[in-house]
Amino acid sequence: MRKQIAAANWKMNLSLTQAEKLVTDLQNQNFSIAENQQVLLAVPFPYLIPVKQQINTSHVEVAAQNIASTTNGAFTGETSAEMLNGISINYAIIGHSERRLYYFESNETLAQKINRAFEFNIKPIFCCGEPLEIREANTQNDFVEIQLKESLFHLSEAQMKGFIIAYEPIWAIGTGKTASSDQAQEMHAHIRQVIAQKYGAEIANSVSILYGGSVKASNAADIFGKPDVDGGLVGGASLVATEFAAIISTLKK
Ligand code: PGA
Repeated sequence: MRKQIAAANWKMNLSLTQAEKLVTDLQNQNFSIAENQQVLLAVPFPYLIPVKQQINTSHVEVAAQNIASTTNGAFTGETSAEMLNGISINYAIIGHSERRLYYFESNETLAQKINRAFEFNIKPIFCCGEPLEIREANTQNDFVEIQLKESLFHLSEAQMKGFIIAYEPIWAIGTGKTASSDQAQEMHAHIRQVIAQKYGAEIANSVSILYGGSVKASNAADIFGKPDVDGGLVGGASLVATEFAAIISTLKK
């Protein structure tokens, strides 16, 4: 079975003290992580090393929230994939809608970021998803298909195998408005079909497709229970240890 993943996206939140307390509280919660499951904590850059040192199981890994599209050099303020690899970070979120919106990251830039990640053995968690006006016009399938094609379709079969995608409808992020589990399933099935058309069914079935957008303990079981939903990328609710632990417990075994 493909990996079932609960990924916390802390965004730009928490002091170091609060971050360490959250990890302690999370590790004190009563949940187990099966072989086919993975928990990721995407934390702000300054916390990558301290949080990594605090974690006591390989089923929980720390992830970056972004990487540079360039390799190295005069790019003030950027953090390269090579640097993350150098501190043993194995995952990075790429293309979150907040990066697309506030930092103008295009599908093309994201393709470069994906390449940098692969060059340095970092597994991307590639985010896609439509804004409200696209959903209202009912053109979300085409919109997401273009995001996938422009940022991912240069990848080899080996790179696409076991790849991680997060579908996050922008209108559901931080708004308390969740896509219904049926809406999530419909889009996830579409994403898998788009991948299958290019890479074949076997590879498409190996891709973990996470749902993101106001996931909480109270709706996770319903959403994660859908056949093409392989877990979630969780913002607000991941900042509360009991909530995130409960979300982890709803992953499929
Ligand atoms: P949210 O954020 O869970 O707070 O809606 C999800 C995300 O942006 O990844």
